[in-house]
Amino acid sequence: MAKINDNFLKLPGSYLFANIAQKVAKFKKENPDSKVIKLGIGDVTQPLPQASIDAMHAAIEDLATKERFHGYGPEQGYKFLQDTIIDNDYKPLGIDFDSSEIFVSDGAKSDTGNIGDILATDNKVGVTDPIYPVYIDSNVMGGRSGNLQENGMWSNITYTKCTAENSFIPELPKEKVDIMYLCYPNNPTGTTLTRNQLKEWVDWALANEVLILFDSAYEAYITEENVPHSIYEIDGAKKCAIEFRSYSKTAGFTGVRCGYTVVPKELMATTNTGEKVAINKIWNRRQCTKFNGASYITQRGAEATYSEQGKEQVKMTIDFYMGNAKIMKEELEAAGLTTFGGLNAPYVWVKTPKGMTSWDFFDEMLHKANVVGTPGVGFGPSGEGYYRLSAFGEREDCLEAMKRIKNWLKK
Ligand SMILES: Cc1ncc(COP(=O)(O)O)c(C=O)c1O
Repeated sequence: MAKINDNFLKLPGSYLFANIAQKVAKFKKENPDSKVIKLGIGDVTQPLPQASIDAMHAAIEDLATKERFHGYGPEQGYKFLQDTIIDNDYKPLGIDFDSSEIFVSDGAKSDTGNIGDILATDNKVGVTDPIYPVYIDSNVMGGRSGNLQENGMWSNITYTKCTAENSFIPELPKEKVDIMYLCYPNNPTGTTLTRNQLKEWVDWALANEVLILFDSAYEAYITEENVPHSIYEIDGAKKCAIEFRSYSKTAGFTGVRCGYTVVPKELMATTNTGEKVAINKIWNRRQCTKFNGASYITQRGAEATYSEQGKEQVKMTIDFYMGNAKIMKEELEAAGLTTFGGLNAPYVWVKTPKGMTSWDFFDEMLHKANVVGTPGVGFGPSGEGYYRLSAFGEREDCLEAMKRIKNWLKK
């Protein structure tokens, strides 16, 4: 009989969002007349930018002709998109790349999860805590995690805390790590690192030969000047970092599926015998074997987000979500809650009142205000005592949810 990869069996059975869904379903069954507002899962609600819709229609028309038909595309993405990415996302920041350093994909979840394929099992992994769960779970699958301990931490993973006590600025790990995941702007806390703070991480990575896996899926939400849009704004980052980007939250592509990963040519890793190898070459090999490229239609849609109209439309949607975030922060603070994030990211991270646990706060908010968010502890032990609300909802839902929360907390 075939043997399963036992590492998968180490993963705890029920996933955070499944747990939430179960609780909400039970509540709705018991309270069929209540209208529950969901500000939990990080999916978007607004339609695609018109520029992308038009481009994707045109791409389908291309496929309908013999002359412009596209079958399998390059595994790394079409050059038209790679070049557009370089010209728009990097050149204005003073950063240059060759198209062979840009790998277009079906999204940042796949890439942040799959990158472990090319990294040895005995690498020591570091994460900030709380964290987007994919980084840890994919390392559990890859055999790098050790075992889950009672405190909710994996024995072989290094956690660096991000809480209000350190203003959500993680301390550099004291022990040796080989790979460090950073996500800025951060999901779930909605907080960011300034240029100087990120520089500390890059300097540390260079000095200690650490590979930084930098997830900037929320880059488009940055509003503050001193927050870098790319890790490559920091000198030396091309020698120590891979950057992951996504069109999901930027342009509503959560269902369309497109993102990209930057693997600079000068980024090196070592073999078992200590020789240096270019990570770009190995990632390219992995992608060519296991991935057949994002669709032509999708890539035309992504390209169109960089057109003049596309940029305007994307900005309008992001402004809309950030308008929700502003309302949420103001109203929650007026209701006596302490909030973080929501300035450079579409997430508001709420401190639970009176020392309540994340799940108790979830249950109370569901029952008393009929509003659903995400318990912070679901993102890691340091998320205990916090609660994530997402700004991706409809404006009227957002306003109504805030009204209900205020009324509930007044009692
Ligand atoms: C930090 C972070 N990275 C990546 C993703 C996934 O992005 P994509 O839709 O491109 O797979 C998400 C989605 O919620 C996220 O929060």
